[in-house]
Amino acid sequence: MTFSFHFYGLGPTQCTLTYTSNRRLVNLQLQKDIKISLSSDPMMHSQNSPEDRNMAERCFEGKAHAVAYKRYRVSPPQELMDEVLHFLEKRSERLFNLAVDVGCGSGQGTVLLAPHFTTVVGTDISPAQIEQAKSHDHASNVSYRQCPAEELPFESGTVDLVTSMTAAHWFDRPRFLREADRILKLGGCIALISYTLNMELEFRENDAELNRICQEFYTALLPFRSSYLGPSSLDRYKEMYESIPYQNKEWHECLRVRRKMPLTDYIGMVETFSSYQALLKKDPAQAQKLSEEIMDKLLNAMGTSSADTEVTVVIKYFYLLASKDKTD
Ligand SMILES: C[S@@+](CC[C@H](N)C(=O)[O-])C[C@H]1O[C@@H](n2cnc3c(N)ncnc32)[C@H](O)[C@@H]1O
Repeated sequence: MTFSFHFYGLGPTQCTLTYTSNRRLVNLQLQKDIKISLSSDPMMHSQNSPEDRNMAERCFEGKAHAVAYKRYRVSPPQELMDEVLHFLEKRSERLFNLAVDVGCGSGQGTVLLAPHFTTVVGTDISPAQIEQAKSHDHASNVSYRQCPAEELPFESGTVDLVTSMTAAHWFDRPRFLREADRILKLGGCIALISYTLNMELEFRENDAELNRICQEFYTALLPFRSSYLGPSSLDRYKEMYESIPYQNKEWHECLRVRRKMPLTDYIGMVETFSSYQALLKKDPAQAQKLSEEIMDKLLNAMGTSSADTEVTVVIKYFYLLASKDKTD
């Protein structure tokens, strides 16, 4: 691809970008003989640029992040998985053969599909996430593969269900949707699930004060959010929903799910958010200070000194379901 760029201090110049097949490496060749280095600051990239998405992918690559992910990230509730299966059942008479969970991370959602399909494959672009997924116990019909969401290694028309759980916002969304359409059988379904990051806390009638503190946490992280996602990933999913051409599709805006967990796990979960990870990379001391301050304020508001005290976290899921038209 060749673009015209204006580099500050250099003036306009032609620039050729070369991507590897997995889009991880980008080579820039300038008309002028000048060496440049690619910035790793997500804020430096314009919205929707390939570099920005590459940054997004790299957010999840660290081994420590993948381990934290496995430990703290919640999997979708059974009632939501039942909704997905019910939607699929209504449209497909056959036995469920193959499900593909794209952007599977450490596999906590992938394994929920195992009892319902002959074969389940979790895919992710990050080797560290795939390593985590493989290292944990899973049913023998579940396997994992490292590959980009936009180039899925499945034959056309062979997949009953394509899922993506809190991941599709990171993909090259139009290319991913085309790829999902290619691999789906007629009557097969796509289910894209995610949740808003403004989770709420409940603890002994003190919810308002706790949520004010949580909001403070989220607001502090907002400047570190990837520009690829924009202010709300819910909007990215609505766009995907609108762009899916199938007749049978459903949009579900808010399913509130309550999960009990120690306060320390709530903090651990927020620390897995990409915005927190971006802050951690930029300024580890500031990131740690922020977590500690929020933890102290929450403990104070709860009237306890134990970070193991159980709280209820309210997670607000949204999801889209769509079935590939049989008359295609
Ligand atoms: C927020 S995590 C979600 C993981 C898991 N599905 C879950 O529910 O916890 C997003 C995942 O998407 C993966 N990812 C990001 N961009 C990708 C791409 N283009 N292709 C495949 N996976 C990608 C990341 O490596 C990461 O594991």
